[in-house]
Amino acid sequence: MPQPLNASQIRQELPVRRVGRIVRVVPEAGSTNDLAFAQAGDPDYDGLAVFADYQTAGRGRIGRRWLAPRGAGLLGSVLLFEPDDPARVGRLVLIAGMAVCRAVTAVADDVDPVIRWPNDVLVGGRKLAGILVESRALPPRRAYVVGIGVNCHQTPGHFPPELREQATSLEIASDYPVARLDLARQLLIELDRYLVPVEPLSDGELCDRWLAHAEPMGQRVHLQQGGRTYVGRTLQIDPTGSLAIELEPGGRRVFDAATTTVLPLPWRSGQAEGSSP
Ligand code: BTN
Repeated sequence: MPQPLNASQIRQELPVRRVGRIVRVVPEAGSTNDLAFAQAGDPDYDGLAVFADYQTAGRGRIGRRWLAPRGAGLLGSVLLFEPDDPARVGRLVLIAGMAVCRAVTAVADDVDPVIRWPNDVLVGGRKLAGILVESRALPPRRAYVVGIGVNCHQTPGHFPPELREQATSLEIASDYPVARLDLARQLLIELDRYLVPVEPLSDGELCDRWLAHAEPMGQRVHLQQGGRTYVGRTLQIDPTGSLAIELEPGGRRVFDAATTTVLPLPWRSGQAEGSSP
């Protein structure tokens, strides 16, 4: 059984200015996103990070569940008060994907994570981590919660058979032992780097840096939106997190992350949409 997370160990001399100023750890939660939203009435909680060793109602994108055995995953959420801007959720998804990749590499340098649009972090074509950004209006501002789940101590037997070829963990992907404590600290440091308001990335920088961590553009993808499916080649992302595709019948179409599902192509192995066990 992995060590339970401990808030004071995460917080100890953590070099952050915003994200992780306040850290809470609970043994069990419904969803850490909900625990973070529970503090949204108080602006002093900007940057709050909440971690749970276990979630009973962890959620993923598009109504999916996010499951992890007790102590096996890093399950955390960060509360942010930012301007009420419809583009902000997508921007936070891009930032969180980069932060996860950088944090993973920092604690396991034999692992090479890549982002698959919109919000999956893969290793060797298998899903290591997922990101769920949600928001609630609090006029004139908005509360945003960045929820991140990283598979850490799962072994193949922890994943149900139908996900075994699609999911991975740091335990599986790295030759070295990785502690959730180190990953939690590094994740907060990386998120803080991007989210301290005095150092905002320009739109161009954000897209360029995201692309440096992501699967290359030009891949053939199969997307579903509004009950229709589309096949095409990926062209570019924009700072709101939307993806432009060159459609196979011709033409260009932009897909937003919130309403689009990436479907597996039969010849593309390792498609990793869906919750991890
Ligand atoms: C996805 O891949 O669909 C996103 C998964 C996000 C899971 C994390 S675990 C911590 C936080 N709390 C939740 O209920 N969900 C996110």
